[in-house]
Amino acid sequence: MSVAEQSRLKAEPIKPSIGSRILADKATLLGGEHADELRDLLEQRGVLVFPQIHFTDEEQLAFTRTLGTLAREVRDNAEVYKVTMDSSVTPTAEYLKGAFYWHFDGSMSPMPILASILSAKVLSEEGGDTDFCNTYAAYEALSDAEKAELEGLTAMHTNASAQLYVHPEPTLEQWREWRSIGIGGKELPLVWTHRSGRRSLVIGNTAHHVVGMDPLDGRELLIRLRDWATRPEFSYRHRWTIGDAVMWDNTGTLHRATPYPLDSGRCLHRTKLEGEEAIAA
Ligand SMILES: [Fe+2]
Repeated sequence: MSVAEQSRLKAEPIKPSIGSRILADKATLLGGEHADELRDLLEQRGVLVFPQIHFTDEEQLAFTRTLGTLAREVRDNAEVYKVTMDSSVTPTAEYLKGAFYWHFDGSMSPMPILASILSAKVLSEEGGDTDFCNTYAAYEALSDAEKAELEGLTAMHTNASAQLYVHPEPTLEQWREWRSIGIGGKELPLVWTHRSGRRSLVIGNTAHHVVGMDPLDGRELLIRLRDWATRPEFSYRHRWTIGDAVMWDNTGTLHRATPYPLDSGRCLHRTKLEGEEAIAA
């Protein structure tokens, strides 16, 4: 084997428009020698799967740091967040229920996080897969007329909108609590033109309405775009096995968890990379 072949990262595509499986051992990943290649692949493929890599928290943190700047949790400054519905482990578990609906993370922050990495520690016997869809690929596959239709449009995003999926008939107290989280509303373009020049759709469960459009027409557009972006050709469902790690480009994908019993103990450990680019039209 030549030196060039030895040094190339082994990866295989999962589906034509989304997902690659990375076939590298832990030491290679922690060494950081393929960090640039992994970041390129992440942007191209949306989701990278590291089957059965069995990262400890320390290893996951070290691997995350090879790829960019580690982002801590806003609420408690933690480096590793335990994604579980067990509120004795994660007090904010109630808010995680919004994750059963298509979204990207940090739509309300000035700069959404670049990427997340999840490691499977405890799994539910049923359900609890993670779905991803590639919003770059979905935008690129729109017709020219559809792309023109989206030009200049913006949507108002709110945390309350995501919570309405979970509690469609909130109490006034709940509503006021949701509104108090974050900054209230944030207006974002429906299409993000990244620094690279590539464009992706900006939709998900925090999108409340399309600014300046009839409310029902705007809602229909948001549903149409979500239906489109989550079609099978743009999406990938990860069925977890213990020890898998999955990383996704949070700036060019949406994700959601599929339903599972809330008392199953399912627990995934998450690390995140700081955002490097604000959403821009
Ligand atoms: Fe999420």
